[in-house]
Amino acid sequence: MNAETVLITGASSGIGLALARCFAADGCRLVLVARKGDALEALAAELRKTRKIQAQVIPADLARPEAPARLLAHLQAAGLKVDVLVNNAGFGAQGKFVELPLARQLEMIQLNLTTLTHLTGLLLPGMLERRRGGILNVASTAAFQPGPGMAVYYATKAYVLSFTEALAEELAGTGLTITAVCPGPTTTNFGRAANMRTLGLVRKISMSAEAVARQGHRGFRRGRVVVINGFRNQLPAFLVRGCPRAVVRKITRRLNNVKYP
Ligand SMILES: NC(=O)c1ccc[n+]([C@@H]2O[C@H](COP(=O)([O-])OP(=O)(O)OC[C@H]3O[C@@H](n4cnc5c(N)ncnc54)[C@H](OP(=O)(O)O)[C@@H]3O)[C@@H](O)[C@H]2O)c1
Repeated sequence: MNAETVLITGASSGIGLALARCFAADGCRLVLVARKGDALEALAAELRKTRKIQAQVIPADLARPEAPARLLAHLQAAGLKVDVLVNNAGFGAQGKFVELPLARQLEMIQLNLTTLTHLTGLLLPGMLERRRGGILNVASTAAFQPGPGMAVYYATKAYVLSFTEALAEELAGTGLTITAVCPGPTTTNFGRAANMRTLGLVRKISMSAEAVARQGHRGFRRGRVVVINGFRNQLPAFLVRGCPRAVVRKITRRLNNVKYP
């Protein structure tokens, strides 16, 4: 069988970059997408050399509504058929909803949720036709509860988890699989981009991007629908199910450092 073609969004840093290394180790052909073309080129050059794989770079701002259709046109022009889609690109913003720039939060919805859905809708039919491949969505432990102090971000990740679980049922028996990987705090550029005032505890329990990617990649290969990274994240995700929502909201508000008036 030919090497799988894996398209990874947000492969220029953090978890996406680490996932690119995992799929490269499988011998996959990679299509790397993000805005920083130089970082993608450096990664592609490294993986071509060390893993002897084919790697292609497509710089794109995926927060632009026209980006998914352009990306598809680019793939078709290059004769690339995507077997595995890794929807990883995303960002957050910390602060009260009303105090954060609205445009930035709408951009977050566009990238974290609309682009993810759009790319899935464009690439899934080809996978089904070939009865090969699947989708790995990077959600978050933020998906399991409302997030005062990062309201839109948590809501986008709740969508990613719900969408993934629903599609997993719809895809049953097709030979395709879909996985949502749910990292907790992870040491990447995410905190800086989100302007987070990280609490000491959060910093202490942070995982490395490599460990998160390894677990997500393994879960995807095993056909798992939901992968929560690490026991320290699995336990709270389990506990919130039995906890009143009002209590969960208040705890999350404290963790996100939202001051009471
Ligand atoms: N770090 C955490 O604590 C954590 C926890 C749970 C979930 N996550 C999720 O993990 C995913 C990856 O984040 P990360 O932690 O690895 O952070 P990161 O190091 O900031 O990486 C984010 C990636 O997304 C890309 N990206 C951002 N905006 C983009 C845009 N408009 N168009 C195209 N690409 C864009 C960035 O590339 P360019 O800047 O080159 O465009 C970068 O490659 C996100 O979905 C995030 O929500 C992170």
